[in-house]
Amino acid sequence: MELFDELSWSDSFLLGFGPMDAVHQEFVGIVHTMLTCPDADLLAHLKTFERHADDHFSQELKWMKSTNFPAMQCHDDEHLAVQKSVSEVILLVEQGDFSVGRSLAKALADWFPGHADYLDSALAQWMVKLDTGGAPVVIKRSMLPSSIPIET
Ligand SMILES: [Fe+2]
Ligand SMILES: [Fe+2]
Repeated sequence: MELFDELSWSDSFLLGFGPMDAVHQEFVGIVHTMLTCPDADLLAHLKTFERHADDHFSQELKWMKSTNFPAMQCHDDEHLAVQKSVSEVILLVEQGDFSVGRSLAKALADWFPGHADYLDSALAQWMVKLDTGGAPVVIKRSMLPSSIPIET
């Protein structure tokens, strides 16, 4: 399996539930940095990612629990598998094995689009539906007429 060397934020990741989109943008930013930073900075960014993942995944679990989301277990299992890998890899990077840290970053870049598309998007739709009684509306830059200038 070929893993991705890069991950950058794109509107295609928007799911229409603002608080989740914000945390996903942060996720993408940290993984991007883990893929591109010098070896000397990798451990610090991995630890930043570990803290981010704790917050990100516990927030999603809170949303699922508080609203009785039906597919909670398999979603949380994926999060737990990521967190387990991250803590194991941090120990190896602490011993100077930077390549395993970089491989983890590539695996995260590979994992995120599918997870977001499948499990997170179901949760986002569920949260918006409970909030408003309807499905989320996502407006992406590419859907706007080209005459409207958009700051990027
Ligand atoms: Fe997420
Ligand atoms: Fe998730």
